[in-house]
Amino acid sequence: MKEEDRDLTQPDEQAPALSRRRLITYLLGFSVVTTLAGVLTPIIGYLLPSGQASAGTGEPVKVGATADFPVGRGKVVSVQDKPVVVANTAEGGLKAFSAICTHLGCIVEWDANRRIIACPCHDAHFNPVNGAVISGPAPSPLPEFQLTVQGDALYVTPS
Ligand code: FES
Repeated sequence: MKEEDRDLTQPDEQAPALSRRRLITYLLGFSVVTTLAGVLTPIIGYLLPSGQASAGTGEPVKVGATADFPVGRGKVVSVQDKPVVVANTAEGGLKAFSAICTHLGCIVEWDANRRIIACPCHDAHFNPVNGAVISGPAPSPLPEFQLTVQGDALYVTPS
């Protein structure tokens, strides 16, 4: 049948089938793309260390008094809206590090019993004297902040 012989007053039987087929193809393509994105995003996030571990810059921020940090004591404080772990270690004195884990960005804690910095998410442990990784999946040390004592107050300067 030639194209000009076709009855244009009747619905075209081929057109709806092609539209359905095209719609199904688009839906299948969309579902494949969203499934791949859902699977690959956490894998890439796990393999690439978080970039949130870098410290900010700015003026010294008072984080407490020296009396708040006797030897063996530490806690997480806020410095310019960023978590910083401050600890008074027997070996290294007062220290301050970014409290953002270099693995996937969880907030680390001061473990008073073991006197180390520990991440609750995947159990990474950090040396409170130099921020180095002791164990766990963290790929790099915690960035250190400059900590100064003025009178009886502690100040942290993001670097
Ligand atoms: S986020 Fe995984 S060990 Fe800290």
